[in-house]
Amino acid sequence: MNQQVTDASMTLVEQAKGLLSGQRDRIANAANLSALLFMELVDVNWAGFYFLRGDELILGPFQGKPACVTIPLGKGVCGTAASSLETQRVEDVHAYAGHIACDVNSRSELVVPLLVRGELIGVLDIDSPLPNRFSLRDQEVLEEVARVYEASVD
Ligand code: SME
Repeated sequence: MNQQVTDASMTLVEQAKGLLSGQRDRIANAANLSALLFMELVDVNWAGFYFLRGDELILGPFQGKPACVTIPLGKGVCGTAASSLETQRVEDVHAYAGHIACDVNSRSELVVPLLVRGELIGVLDIDSPLPNRFSLRDQEVLEEVARVYEASVD
């Protein structure tokens, strides 16, 4: 079943809670959450994680085309979300200075920073082939999904 984030917000959050309960491993839960988001969200061509290693982001579990392996903090949409600790909701990546194109089909993007015990551990990144795919409500729901992930891991 495919679903719009907005139409099934609690469903997606509840699905994430159920999927991640019972396991505290960051990689395992990131892998399953990537699969859930990629399977359930319409018009999404990439969903996955980058984890902080030193002063750069390193590719984690994801669904979609092969992607850039390293992203410096402060660079691209992911590096900006990581360094600012603020969600980046980009309506048109072509108009975003510094966007790092991994999949040429990506047109809009949502990146949520992930914190555990107050420390940045990485970002959740979701790409769409449609411009302006992610509404403010979508952002709120995916931030809640990110909170579920943060709470699920050590
Ligand atoms: N577009 C991202 C890079 C990661 S890919 O979208 C998977 C960015 O600008 O940070």
